[in-house]
Amino acid sequence: MSNNIQSVRGMNDCLPDAADTWQGFEAIVRDWLRRYGYREMRTPILEHTGLFKRAIGEVTDIVEKEMYTFVDELNGESLTLRPEGTASSVRAVIQNNLLYDGGKRLWYTGPMFRHERPQKGRYRQFHQVGVEALGFAGPDTDAELIVMCADLWKELGIAPTLQLNTLGDHASRQRHRQKLIAYFEAHQDTLDEDARRRLHSNPLRILDSKNPAMQALNDAAPKLMDELEDEALAHFEAVQALLRANGIAFEINPRLVRGLDYYNRTVFEWVTDQLGAQGTVCAGGRYDGLVEQLGGKPAPAAGFAMGIERLLALIEVGGHPIATPVPDAYIVHAGEAAQAYAWQVAAALRSAGLAAVLHCGGGGFKSQMKKADASRARFALIIGDDEAAAQQVTLKPLRGTGEQTRVEVALAIDILKQA
Ligand code: HAM
Repeated sequence: MSNNIQSVRGMNDCLPDAADTWQGFEAIVRDWLRRYGYREMRTPILEHTGLFKRAIGEVTDIVEKEMYTFVDELNGESLTLRPEGTASSVRAVIQNNLLYDGGKRLWYTGPMFRHERPQKGRYRQFHQVGVEALGFAGPDTDAELIVMCADLWKELGIAPTLQLNTLGDHASRQRHRQKLIAYFEAHQDTLDEDARRRLHSNPLRILDSKNPAMQALNDAAPKLMDELEDEALAHFEAVQALLRANGIAFEINPRLVRGLDYYNRTVFEWVTDQLGAQGTVCAGGRYDGLVEQLGGKPAPAAGFAMGIERLLALIEVGGHPIATPVPDAYIVHAGEAAQAYAWQVAAALRSAGLAAVLHCGGGGFKSQMKKADASRARFALIIGDDEAAAQQVTLKPLRGTGEQTRVEVALAIDILKQA
């Protein structure tokens, strides 16, 4: 075994049983997005490194230490496997001038890559469903993004809780930043190494520290709330009013600052305590400056992304089970005439829209029936030379009770469709 090549650490295979569940989940998500009028967009997994540096911010954990960045040896370009989808979405929207006739509601799904320390719920290749509303400035958009999440949670049978905060606008953040720097400078002795490094580059991220020794200092730090402009405050209050009107419970968490620099005003996270340390299943917010920052005509924007692995884990501990497909019939056959007839029967079933697994590889009835059972099929469809001669099949239910019956193929198809 040790000589065999294994998958890259933190990057997992999605085997058939899991893939069935993923497909079921994706079908639910696609339909949910359709009902909200969002349209899918697909962007490349590789982008120029500069895109993420500019969008996410040079002094963020993601850009500083988590990106899979390499030089394309064929032309010397620095490329990066996307660590998230917002930067690529905004790049594509600008490049293709998608906002020329007004706002766009977009979504995407796929693998993202971050070189984090792998643990339960945290992977180096993970998957997101991301939703971006570009060109919409009002608090109604922020609220709708949150309401639509709540709607999906209900459908999935899970109940993460909503944490909400506002980061204000540029001017208030600048004022707050200056006050924070002054405050932390006055307490240099208490700062840990991370905080010292971030003091002048990204003091807001110091507030996000998990270090218990930093807690008291952070608790007493200047609050952004005290600096907010009237407009940002009114926006935040309008979001909250819409959430209340739609029966969405939330908790305001002034500590919620997010790990990406592009946010302003509303930020939110859906969290659960049922998954251990990695409890954020979905997160996002408003990012009004990003389109302009990446070279587009100024346009407001907001969005979120959910981690598929984490959501599926949460569904597994207490959500509605996701329906997964099983074959309708496993076709067992022995004898030359039976085999020829079995091929015809399989084709007839498939034309009727049924999933039919045709036994391959020979063997007696007994060993074939074992394979039928293992295939998870609902019925075994048995064909011996007798059946072949009579142009009939024997239908044996493999799950629950029910009698074995010998019928014409057309009737077998009816039974399989109704069962
Ligand atoms: P994010 O908070 O970095 O935001 O990631 C969103 C979600 O992706 C997280 O809440 C989590 O569920 C999942 N996730 C992140 N990292 C990992 C990991 N290493 N392993 C497993 N799951 C992970 C963004 O990515 C923003 N682009 C969201 C956004 C969209 N904001 C506006 N629009």
